Amino acid sequence: MYNSKIIGVGHYVPDNIVTNDDLAKIIDTNDEWIQERTGIKERRWAKEEDKETTFTMGLEAAKRAIKNSGLDKDDIDFIIFATLSPDYYFPGPGVQIQEALDIGTVGALDVRNQCSGFVYAVSVADQFIKTGMYKNILVIGSELQSHGIDKTTRGRNISVIFGDGAGAVVLSREEDLSKGILSTHLHSEGKHALELATEAPGMGTRWVTDIIEENNPDDLSYFPYMNGQFVFKHAVARFSEVIIEGLVKNNLPKEAIDLLIPHQANLRISQFIQKKFGLSDDQVFNNIQKYGNTTAASIPIALSEAWEEGRIKDGDVVVLAAFGSGFTWGSVIIKW
Ligand code: COA
Repeated sequence: MYNSKIIGVGHYVPDNIVTNDDLAKIIDTNDEWIQERTGIKERRWAKEEDKETTFTMGLEAAKRAIKNSGLDKDDIDFIIFATLSPDYYFPGPGVQIQEALDIGTVGALDVRNQCSGFVYAVSVADQFIKTGMYKNILVIGSELQSHGIDKTTRGRNISVIFGDGAGAVVLSREEDLSKGILSTHLHSEGKHALELATEAPGMGTRWVTDIIEENNPDDLSYFPYMNGQFVFKHAVARFSEVIIEGLVKNNLPKEAIDLLIPHQANLRISQFIQKKFGLSDDQVFNNIQKYGNTTAASIPIALSEAWEEGRIKDGDVVVLAAFGSGFTWGSVIIKW
């Protein structure tokens, strides 16, 4: 048995900054409402002419993570790519990364767990490394939200929240079992699947041809839908539960947390968790103010920025926690 350890982090966000005031020009909203309810000041939305996609952003983040790990691209044994906004309906972007990095025919797995995608992906990578099957795994979370949201007043409860970007990590075999990823916990509750979802196109519901045929301007099924307050209530409860689950598993008191990196869903959710666990501002990392919610990319972007800012030191207990569509949620406890 081995442990897995994050040995390289990297992130990439598009240059184009969209402020709340910019949104107020196209949507009936305002900076005060957005900041008060979500904490978001601005987000990145890739410009159409820059031809950035979930794959291209993920690739850039991956290159930075590999460089940062000190490994060569050819040392990567396996790729895991988490996203809800793939370039193609199928195949997923994992294979695009394999091709672009030119790393032989290593396996590429796509994870579809939305805001929990990165935590799920890390958990899968951890199991592969623990059993000895793979030694170095590239895990990517990347999202291009801006092309798929309703940027009108009709969709304002969603469109002001979501942003584009990518983050990646390299996980590697660690022989010292007191270091690296100590545990991961994953959960789901599918009865709430449609409380936060994009329903169409789906093979089991309505395919693209049906949508075209119906030509219904009021059809919103291909835009994300979110029952905001319902999601909020579940998020705060599940974040707490799954962090506690991880701490208990490792006999760690909440005071042992050096840095909590929650999925960046809403600053109010992070602040609720911070208060509940009695953590100081130094112990919780938030960057939703700059990027909005980048779903599967939010934790790896935050992890990469926290690392760059020197907020993570050897031996620190770092906790990752996510909640999102599905509902799905999970946590990762790391001894850095
Ligand atoms: N600008 C201005 N007003 C807006 C708005 C916007 N962008 N979006 C919604 N509103 C309006 C609503 O129309 C509503 O108006 P009404 O009272 O006249 O009907 C009012 O603001 C309150 O809307 P509501 O949806 O109840 O707001 P809220 O306090 O629940 O905040 C969210 C909305 C989305 C910020 C909040 O519910 C949330 O963060 N939920 C969790 C989201 C989340 O974590 N998602 C990802 C999980 S991974």
